[in-house]
Amino acid sequence: MISPILSVPRDGPAPGAPALVDALENGAVLVFPDLDFPLDAFEQRFVERPFADGKAKNVNIRGAAATLKGAAGSPEEQERLRQVLIRYRTFAQALVDRYLPAYTGKVSLAGTSYRPFDVDRRKLSWRRDDTRLHVDAFPSNPIGEKRILRIFRNINPSGQPRLWRVGEDFASMAEKFVPKLPGYSPLSARLLAALRITKAKRSEYDHLMLHLHDALKQDMAYQASAPQADVRFTPGQTWVTFSDLVMHGAMGGQYMLEQTAYLPVAAQADPERSPQRILARTLGRPLQ
Ligand code: SIN
Ligand code: FE
Repeated sequence: MISPILSVPRDGPAPGAPALVDALENGAVLVFPDLDFPLDAFEQRFVERPFADGKAKNVNIRGAAATLKGAAGSPEEQERLRQVLIRYRTFAQALVDRYLPAYTGKVSLAGTSYRPFDVDRRKLSWRRDDTRLHVDAFPSNPIGEKRILRIFRNINPSGQPRLWRVGEDFASMAEKFVPKLPGYSPLSARLLAALRITKAKRSEYDHLMLHLHDALKQDMAYQASAPQADVRFTPGQTWVTFSDLVMHGAMGGQYMLEQTAYLPVAAQADPERSPQRILARTLGRPLQ
């Protein structure tokens, strides 16, 4: 099954209906076509040219202090860009509270990013090439029993859509790839943490997700022939998905905002639908 795209108009079904959480946990992408997130006259410049130092793929704020990383521009411009990201973080929290209230108080918001570069320009290496279908996994930041929920918004000023591909459901993908992955070693996971290559000890789940991410991106035959569908997110649209569950690739577009949130597996409506539990079922045993 290919990930469904579900439109959630403002005047549609009651916000907060359990159906939305249900669809998300099953691997849907929720698209909110008409939520407001205006930029003022000063802020328009952030979608006219990239206010980024170009060293990283994106500009972001992190932590309670919301320290801005990777930005370019005058001190005033950087402070205003930081305010846009803080506002976007508030917008994302409000979206969760209104449309996914079952997650309120359970999700924790992590990084907020401004992605001003054309998708094409970010294909630095196969591993970082997000045009290839993949599920998200963070090499230095093990997430263990948490889910990655992401809230994206296209802020392109000239009508350019964000183009994505979405792929097949996680379980079908895992059946094909898990048998090819190297086994997990608790000893090397401890070593990576001791050497501070990872911020915490990689669990078997983290190990599997990293290797899945890489194996998927390296398999060009799979990339070309796997079940997939093209999706267009037009400017002004906001979309939400579990990016650790939904196979995705970003094929084109420029200027986007993104909020990452973590949700404990145990806080899901149905933890059995997490990639953690799907992988355990694929292997036929609990993960280490
Ligand atoms: C990704 O999460 O793979 C990138 C999404 C995007 O840049 O549109
Ligand atoms: Fe991704």
